[in-house]
Amino acid sequence: MASGQLSRAEALVCSGCRHACHVMLYSDTKTKLFGRIPIRHIILMQMRFDGLLGFPGGLVNPSEETLEAGLSRELLEELGVALPISVEDHVDSCHAPASSSSSSSSQLITHFYVKKMEEEQIREVERAAASTAADHGQEVLGMVRVPLYTMKGGGGLASFLSHSFIGNARSQLIDSLLRLNLVAPEELHKALTHSLGTHT
Ligand code: GTP
Ligand code: MN
Ligand code: MN
Ligand code: MN
Ligand code: MN
Ligand code: MN
Repeated sequence: MASGQLSRAEALVCSGCRHACHVMLYSDTKTKLFGRIPIRHIILMQMRFDGLLGFPGGLVNPSEETLEAGLSRELLEELGVALPISVEDHVDSCHAPASSSSSSSSQLITHFYVKKMEEEQIREVERAAASTAADHGQEVLGMVRVPLYTMKGGGGLASFLSHSFIGNARSQLIDSLLRLNLVAPEELHKALTHSLGTHT
């Protein structure tokens, strides 16, 4: 395990910690942009109320709910869909760096999950998130898809990675792209080289 990482069980031992769970929902797709650029995968992120990009999910209270049940509750609030999340969807847990903007001094542990879905299910999530989700237009300004292709001049993934992200959401995205082989390593490397801005 990389430094700073904990197993799910180790993380839960810290009862004084706050816990947050987020998930990368994604699917395969045969859709082509402009009829010629393969989109390959639909990956959902969100524009948060604070203007930062992140994954859907939120704070969970392990004394009242399991991590996965808490994540499902957050998804219902933010996406308007009840999505079951299981322990098998868990990817990693780690200590979040101390944040100056945090009102609480207690340590935050972030848990990350990945769930692959059918394209039609992802589209249903997008529809619900923009209509019936309780948090739509408030805590969540909208869902966005991650462009995985690179266009001439660096548009696409490199530009997306130049935006500002909450916590370590940017690393969670990059690590997942590599681990799940959603982007070729050399293409990702090129995009990272071309991406600008604050790399949080
Ligand atoms: P409230 O309902 O207002 O409490 O928000 P929430 O429960 O939806 O919490 P939120 O999604 O903002 O997540 C809680 C904390 O986890 C944030 O303050 C960030 O520090 C962190 N966080 C949020 N999104 C992500 C993400 O995608 N990845 C990581 N690693 N951390 C995140
Ligand atoms: Mn057009
Ligand atoms: Mn929330
Ligand atoms: Mn949230
Ligand atoms: Mn919440
Ligand atoms: Mn809330």
